[in-house]
Amino acid sequence: MPTVKMGSDGRQTQVLKAENLAKHYATPHLLVKAVNGVDLTVLRGEFIAIMGPSGCGKTTLLSMLGGLVRPTSGRVLLDDIDLTSAGERDMIEIRRYRLGFVFQAYYLLEHMTALENVLFPLQFSTMNPAEQVERAEMLLEMVGLADRMGHFPRQLSGGEKQRVAVARSLANEPAVLLADEPTGNLDAESTESILGIMHDLNKRLSQTIVSVTHDMSVLEYATRALHLEAGEIVRIEDDLR
Ligand SMILES: Nc1ncnc2c1ncn2[C@@H]1O[C@H](COP(=O)(O)OP(=O)(O)OP(=O)(O)O)[C@@H](O)[C@H]1O
Ligand SMILES: [Mg+2]
Repeated sequence: MPTVKMGSDGRQTQVLKAENLAKHYATPHLLVKAVNGVDLTVLRGEFIAIMGPSGCGKTTLLSMLGGLVRPTSGRVLLDDIDLTSAGERDMIEIRRYRLGFVFQAYYLLEHMTALENVLFPLQFSTMNPAEQVERAEMLLEMVGLADRMGHFPRQLSGGEKQRVAVARSLANEPAVLLADEPTGNLDAESTESILGIMHDLNKRLSQTIVSVTHDMSVLEYATRALHLEAGEIVRIEDDLR
């Protein structure tokens, strides 16, 4: 087990919680129940894999956990903050300071170097500029990109771009790292590298991670796997390691 923060009674503490979470989309011809009544408690230090067939609601669920999509019903609690009732300004702060996001398509800023991409979220921190650069460099070194800091995204491979995205997501020490198919666009070697980094982050730094993935090898690293079908959790694999 990774070292995790314990509550005063010695139990792992809860960081993220979904209660009866649902997202329904009313389209002209049908009601799409993208997520339909999900209950989930994420403990600090967990690495949760969300799996399931295309269209089963994985991205929708992750987006609601990160406050990117408002649920139709139910609640999401990050520590004790109810994301479902937070105002837009509070949500911006929460996404900026409390959560880290990694997506399949990287979403790096094309006109900025790797270093500037990682510095971008740090501009909102309380660190002075020198400390910001120091932290951004440390994060890029951590993902093995010490020699690529001055490269623009177009000068990086897919795997390297995703490593920059992971470094950026960690800038403000997020309580939870949310990843949506982070290896979806990568070849086998880069997939292994990204999963290795995520495993390391979870194991060494107790970084809490919730990641949507199709990659079965993630089961070697995850603490739990949730299997989703038609918007519902149909199976949970526990004690994976
Ligand atoms: N804005 C929307 N309006 C209507 N239906 C939507 C909307 N967004 C998603 N859906 C539907 O909700 C369902 C779940 O979508 P979601 O993107 O969460 O699936 P997913 O599990 O992430 O799939 P994939 O593995 O292909 O990424 C799908 O059937 C999709 O068509
Ligand atoms: Mg998806």
